[in-house]
This record gives sequence, structure tokens and C-alpha cells, in this order.
Amino acid sequence: MMKKVRLGSSDLKVSQMVLGMMRSSAADVKALEAVLEKALELDINFIDHADIYAWRTPAESLYGELVKARPELKDKFIVQTKCGICQGYYDLSYEHIMESVEQSLTRMNLEKIDVLLLHRPDALMEPEEIAKAFDELQLSGKVLNFGVSNMNPGQISRIQKCVRQPLITDQMQLSIVHSSLIDQGIYVNMKDEQAVMRDGSLLDYLDEHNMSLQAWSIIQAGWEEGCFIDHPNYKELNDKLEELSKKYKVTKSAIAVAWILRHPANILPIAGTVNPTHLEEMAKAFELKLTRQEWYSLYLATGKKLP
Ligand SMILES: NC(=O)c1ccc[n+]([C@@H]2O[C@H](COP(=O)([O-])OP(=O)(O)OC[C@H]3O[C@@H](n4cnc5c(N)ncnc54)[C@H](OP(=O)(O)O)[C@@H]3O)[C@@H](O)[C@H]2O)c1
Repeated sequence: MMKKVRLGSSDLKVSQMVLGMMRSSAADVKALEAVLEKALELDINFIDHADIYAWRTPAESLYGELVKARPELKDKFIVQTKCGICQGYYDLSYEHIMESVEQSLTRMNLEKIDVLLLHRPDALMEPEEIAKAFDELQLSGKVLNFGVSNMNPGQISRIQKCVRQPLITDQMQLSIVHSSLIDQGIYVNMKDEQAVMRDGSLLDYLDEHNMSLQAWSIIQAGWEEGCFIDHPNYKELNDKLEELSKKYKVTKSAIAVAWILRHPANILPIAGTVNPTHLEEMAKAFELKLTRQEWYSLYLATGKKLP
């Protein structure tokens, strides 16, 4: 049974595993329907869109097409989308937020968005404008909850100081390989590369402010290298994943997800697959709990060290 968690201070009860829609924009409605059916079977009710996911067709439009054909799906998923990334610049102005939400609603054939995230910090953002947009969107019932993505504590505080609505979540890149959120907490005050504070101690901040952390690209090393599973650059990690996958009788991908789930912050992993079998395999992570030693052994198998 999929674990349900409260999203930050909201009253939304979402599945801890989120289904990411970015790569569905390279697929078609049939493939989208298949992976959403599998999600429902696995009790995954939380999906993550963005206005810019549009490799082949906008992911939101594919979802809208499906929802039009099958309106009952509207009540089955809690829909999150994002705004703020434009071609060659970031835009968190009042006008852009309002326009992006209107377009997302139209594309998805929805009357409301459950969670709206500001996709990336815009160097020119003015929190007062964000506050005006959030107030109007909430008042009109077009957006029910608000959060951010790729933001550090200082940026969140600056926005939160102006907006009335609680920011309930931050979405950040996190995997065994891309683990800077965790590295600097292990390497406090050391001179090594892992000690570099890249995020302003975000995990501690989110905990203190009752915000949920969502993790993106949970099995990716990075944009260039792609998926670390079976990647020749990550031989030691793959050997360890293999060993644990045999012990727990799950796939390596499930072990990689279990590594994120083992952290006590109740992190919500976003699975980016459009393959129903891959989704089912990853969801098996909820059936196991890595030991402390196993968690650290996976961390060290990426080449990182302990101080
Ligand atoms: N906030 C942000 O800035 C941001 C940035 C990026 C992404 N996101 C969100 O995070 C979501 C997930 O990101 P992601 O797609 O990079 O995540 P991911 O789950 O780490 O990667 C999924 C990709 O890995 C492939 N893959 C290869 N082997 C696999 C295996 N054994 N099991 C499962 N998948 C395997 C999948 O292919 P198949 O489809 O063939 O399985 C798919 O192409 C996105 O959809 C989006 O919602 C947010």
C-alpha cells in the first residue's frame, strides 16, 4: 500500500511517490493513459507537471486530452504544475504567473490547480508581485496551494515574508549521485568539496518550517550522463545496488528510491518514467527499509567519503 503524506502544512494527503510528467511530453496519450492507470493501481495520486514540459507535445495538453476523454480522472489525481521558466530567461512577474496559470488550466482542461510551484528563482523577482498573483489566484479558486522549486532558504523566506499563503513544498534535484543537499550536512566545517554549502541547509529549513521536500531526477546522475543505473561510470554503485536488489528481491531502481525514502525527512520521490513496469518496480521501494549501514554504503559507493 502506497504511503500517504501530508504536503507541508496543507491539508492535502498525497501519495509519497509522485509521478512526474516531464517525459510524457515525448510520448502520446495512450502511453500517458497506461502509466496513469498503473499509478492508480499503485495508489499514486499525485502528479507533477510544468508549463514548459513540451518536448513533442505539451505534457499538460496530453493530460488535458486524456481528461477530456475520461473526466473521472479529474477526481483521482492531485495536480501540481509550475511556472516561471521561459525560453532563455526566468519570469516570476505578476503578469507571467497569471498568464501561465490560465494557459495551464486551459491545456489541462481543469478548473483548478491543486499546487502551483514557482519553478526556479528569478533573479529579478519581486515578492510583492508574487503575493498579488497568489492572492488573486487563490481568491478565484484557480490555485489551491503554493510552493517553490529549486529555491534555497533565503529565497523562500523572502517570498514567504510577502505572500499570505504558506509555501508548502520545495522541489529539488536529489539522488544517491546528486546528493549535495545531504553532503554538506555530513561534512560540516570540513575543507573538502563535499562541505560546500550549495543550498543554505535546506533540509533543516524545510523541517523547521513544516515544508515538504520533493526530489526530482531520483535515478539520474545529471543531464549529460543520464540515468546512473547500469551506467559504466558508476560501476561500484551499480555493484552495491545489485547486491541489495538481490537481498530485497527488487530492482536496482527500487533500491535507489529506497535510499531517498530512508532519510527521515519524508521526502517525496518523483518518478519520471512513462513505463508502467518501471513505475511498479520503483514503487517496491516502499516495501523495504534499508539499514543505516546499507544507506551509507550506497552513499560511499558513489565515490563520496565520510569526514
Ligand atoms: N523542478 C525541477 O526543476 C525539475 C527538473 C526536472 C524534473 N522535474 C520533475 O521530476 C520528474 C522526474 O524527473 P526525471 O524524469 O529526470 O526522473 P527519473 O525518474 O530519475 O528518470 C526517469 C528516466 O529514467 C529512465 N530509466 C532508465 N532506466 C530506468 C529504470 N530502471 N527504472 C525507471 N526509469 C528508468 C526512464 O525511462 P523510461 O521512461 O523508459 O522508464 C526515464 O527516461 C519530472 O517528470 C518532473 O516532474 C523537476
